[in-house]
Amino acid sequence: MTTTSRLPGLHKLSPLERLHKLSEATALSQSSIEHLANMGNLNTATADSMVENVIGTMNIPLGIATNMIIDGLDILIPMATEESSVIAAVCNAARQCRNTGGFTTASSGSLMIAQIQLVDVPNPAFARLQILERLNEIKMICDETDPVLLKHGGGFRDIEVRTLASRASSMVITHLIVDTRDAMGANAVNSMAEAVAPYIAQWTGGRCYLRILSNLADRRLARARATWSLEEIGGAEVRDGILSAFEFADIDPYRAATHNKGIMNGVSAVVLATGNDTRAVEAGAHAYAARSGQYRSLTQWGIDGDGNLTGSIEIPLAVGLIGGATRSHPTASIALEIMNIQTAEQLARTIAAVGLAQNFSALKALATTGIQKGHMALHAKNIAVMAGALGDEIETVASQLVAQGKIRVDIAEEILTSLRQ
Ligand code: MEV
Repeated sequence: MTTTSRLPGLHKLSPLERLHKLSEATALSQSSIEHLANMGNLNTATADSMVENVIGTMNIPLGIATNMIIDGLDILIPMATEESSVIAAVCNAARQCRNTGGFTTASSGSLMIAQIQLVDVPNPAFARLQILERLNEIKMICDETDPVLLKHGGGFRDIEVRTLASRASSMVITHLIVDTRDAMGANAVNSMAEAVAPYIAQWTGGRCYLRILSNLADRRLARARATWSLEEIGGAEVRDGILSAFEFADIDPYRAATHNKGIMNGVSAVVLATGNDTRAVEAGAHAYAARSGQYRSLTQWGIDGDGNLTGSIEIPLAVGLIGGATRSHPTASIALEIMNIQTAEQLARTIAAVGLAQNFSALKALATTGIQKGHMALHAKNIAVMAGALGDEIETVASQLVAQGKIRVDIAEEILTSLRQ
């Protein structure tokens, strides 16, 4: 029971002091408090500087996806995920397209969009032109706001002004289009939007409300494609099952949501491992999937001239190498080092390939044996732990569960009891 949720001044305390406060306010046991006090490999001071009211860290397994070839180079990819079958799925998909050259990737560049909302203008079409005329001044304001970005070859690129009819009245939306290079760029473009907004209000006589980036980063698309030979995937029937699964997702939003969730299993795991913003990428991906007016598949599947299976993905990927947790979290830096990633664009392309690989494995499993067989086999270890297995017992219980074909906690408990007798 929590005595009170009013904990004034909590933010001023150290993480350890906060834990003491927490133990007073809740029924947490001493062992739970000690568990939280162990921050693992994220040092307490770093964690404390990242977010408010830190009391611990939430460790998620970090695994390595093997077998990937991207643009002709072998690459090992760290993935942070709590879902048991996600990393294995990428390893399998990547192994099955090694003989056809792995993944080929590209990107549309690293342009981010910031939006400035202008209201209360009597003539929106007129205001639109008033803003467009100021391109050079807007460029100057933006570039003065972030000279560091300019020094690294980025900065303001263009504007786009749209008039939107809302229920109350029309509004004029200015998009600042900014090349953020190796930064994810949220802070850079948000600052630019805030700097430009008062001028827009002054030029047009209107009022500016929102000044914020758009997570629909459709000028920062990453692309990946690959071919899987019929021999590798197990023949034409498997290929046709995958194609039919894709068609299903492309015409049905209920299925597309699950299909794209599977893609994001891979995408978000690399985004998280590299300390990037999973929510930004997820919001962008789903909005992009709905760009036609219907929510559809983020991937496309087809057949090449030899009857092999081809797959491709195009997805907005606003990720960076500098700033945020990517810089401050040591595990994120090591993840980038493992992949030998040099630019944000290269990271985005790598993530797109992982998303495609993830989708291949999910569709292949769904179109053949079903997802549960492989998933539950990998989940067996979790079940063994849930039943109380420790150390070597985990593997033994898990393999007996798989052998019996029944991955259940009650059975795991029975196996464990007989193992211990
Ligand atoms: C589970 O996390 C992901 C899948 O549901 C994806 C899909 O259905 O394509 C298996």
